[in-house]
Amino acid sequence: MKKNTKLYETAAALLETGKGILAADESDSTAGKRLSMVHLPNEPEHRRNFRELLFTAPDIEKYISGVILYDSTLREATKESIPFADVLTARGIVPGIKVDLGTKDLEGFKGEVVSQGLDNLAERFAEYYDLGARFAKWRAVITIDDEETPTDAAIKMNCIMLARYAQIAQASNIVPIVEPEVIHEGDHSLERAEMVTTRTLQILFQTLIEYKVDLAGLILKSSMVLAGNAHSEQTTPEEVANATLRTFHMSVPHTCAGIVFLSGGQTPERSTDNLNAIAKLGEQPWPITYSYSRAIEEPMLKAWGGKPENEEAAKEALRATCERNSLASLGKL
Ligand code: G3H
Repeated sequence: MKKNTKLYETAAALLETGKGILAADESDSTAGKRLSMVHLPNEPEHRRNFRELLFTAPDIEKYISGVILYDSTLREATKESIPFADVLTARGIVPGIKVDLGTKDLEGFKGEVVSQGLDNLAERFAEYYDLGARFAKWRAVITIDDEETPTDAAIKMNCIMLARYAQIAQASNIVPIVEPEVIHEGDHSLERAEMVTTRTLQILFQTLIEYKVDLAGLILKSSMVLAGNAHSEQTTPEEVANATLRTFHMSVPHTCAGIVFLSGGQTPERSTDNLNAIAKLGEQPWPITYSYSRAIEEPMLKAWGGKPENEEAAKEALRATCERNSLASLGKL
């Protein structure tokens, strides 16, 4: 396999010790959910202001190595007309782009879905690269329901899509983040979450290797392993940490550049505490850090409340959240 040092440099920058990745890649409609928390209508101007607050908060570059953007946000600029990608790059933060186009039902497989977006992906990557993106994300959704769900067939279909996306990304000098999100909603146990996540990651990495994806230029974005949010027994940080690392050791080759976590609807506090417990278990074969969306944005949205007079407080809340997660990624909380 030909080595692409550009990919390794980007991956190393994204995985710098003590830093994480902000996932600000909500689609326009999901951004509306964030704005509704601060009683603002889902209009382009409010979405722009929300992103501008995130990307201009002082000192976040100490804790954030990259930001994942959505297509319309990568094309968006500040009030002073500076493209968001340029604002981030100037701060030493790598801009990234979410490229899957959401999910569609997998016919014949109740409740299971497959992500879309492979058409014209090479052309899209060429444009995204010109706009400043150096890494990307593709999210697949794996839901735990009854004993039958998820099926291997649905997992395999999603993993083939992830592998094809990763091939095209690497050929475009863009580091792929592969994200098979095992959904937290449900009443499944910790043991079941561990089984499903291990199986999913094993199939994923087998498929990536089969399709000659360079794992040294690829980042895994994973769910933490924890009982479903409706399960009677909730998981302690120590249980999450042990189950999550057991899962990774059973499934993630050591050549993979690194692993980042999504928060998956856990509270900001819980996401941070669980990350801290994972880091406390000591050095692992891969760098491990955070790539949260809701768990980073929620405290900032609360402080902002959609009011211009609260903008500085909102930026400070964001900085403080990033600092806490940075400390957690080092096991220092
Ligand atoms: O795809 C999921 C996002 O990148 C992470 O979002 O931290 O709110 O789960 P979350």
